[in-house]
Amino acid sequence: MSTAGDLLENKYFFVNPKPEYLDDLISKTQDFVNEQNNITTDDKLVLVTSGGTSVPLEDNTVRFIDNISAGTRGASSAEQFLFKGYKVIFLHRQFSLQPFNRHFNKSINTSFLDYFDTNGEIKPKYKEEILKMKKLSETYKDNLLILPFTTVNDYLWSLRSIAVLLNSRNCIFYLAAAVSDFYVPYDKLPKHKIQSRAEFQKESEKHLDDTGKLVLDLDPVPKFLRKLVQTWANRSMIISFKLETDPELLIAKAKQALENYNHQLVIGNLLHSRNREVMILAENSEKEHWLRLSEKNEESTCIEELIVDEITKTHDFWMQSWK
Ligand code: PMT
Repeated sequence: MSTAGDLLENKYFFVNPKPEYLDDLISKTQDFVNEQNNITTDDKLVLVTSGGTSVPLEDNTVRFIDNISAGTRGASSAEQFLFKGYKVIFLHRQFSLQPFNRHFNKSINTSFLDYFDTNGEIKPKYKEEILKMKKLSETYKDNLLILPFTTVNDYLWSLRSIAVLLNSRNCIFYLAAAVSDFYVPYDKLPKHKIQSRAEFQKESEKHLDDTGKLVLDLDPVPKFLRKLVQTWANRSMIISFKLETDPELLIAKAKQALENYNHQLVIGNLLHSRNREVMILAENSEKEHWLRLSEKNEESTCIEELIVDEITKTHDFWMQSWK
């Protein structure tokens, strides 16, 4: 029997057109998967989603709503998965942080040109770190496929297309992207820039009320985690993230996500402590546990090292259980 959720999910891809570059994304993913021969060997693969999705308010987009995410969680986790021998598909918000490069464009004190002296040479104090990351990125370049998205619609079409190509026990879906919960469906999206003065509004595109306030009418984005778990990637291990700002809600919301979607693991984090601690809740486990950076190791390691270490062990165990 179809539920209201099913109907919304099925309707979504009829109403909202696919991004122009989708066929190219599919063929790059196919080549990457075939090259790795991933589905038939013991190679392990992970799809890491990263960064925030945007919600355009106009088709020719001038204004949009955004979701917070620098891309640190995703980019840093992608590095850790590569170190663990995984092939990584990195589906990220265009211009957000990327593996290895992230070390040089996340500082508010250092811009790109600050790395060079007036002769264009790399300043000695940065050289060692740059060479180290350059070497790592070269070492892992054949194991890393970098794909972009911008809008929530790009993200959902890409996720579905990639998921059906990867659906295997060897694959992890590590959904760290911050996905919008509300959007404007394509058939309700104004074609042109929304006018701020009533006299320039077309009758067919009225968005200001009588007092001149902009009134937005956003639909809920269907929860595609359900489709991913039940259909698109029903053979893979699926890890979702839960972001909250109220500590009292985090554990309850993570539990609710596992109950609703029946996937393998939820990683919960709070906005302001997300780089230092996360909560892990696995299916069939009674209780959540926390991973934390101590003051001692905060400088030398990152929380994603702890997360990915635990995830990859769980994945090994999980794959064994299917043999
Ligand atoms: O990039 P950083 O700055 O390092 O920040 C990392 C992070 C805080 C963004 C990351 O750790 C994180 O928590 N990402 C998930 C944020 C999020 O979208 O949370 P949510 O509670 O809205 O969604 C929970 C899950 O449901 C997500 O895994 C998402 O893929 C899924 N979802 C969400 C909305 C939707 N319509 N459909 C979904 O399936």
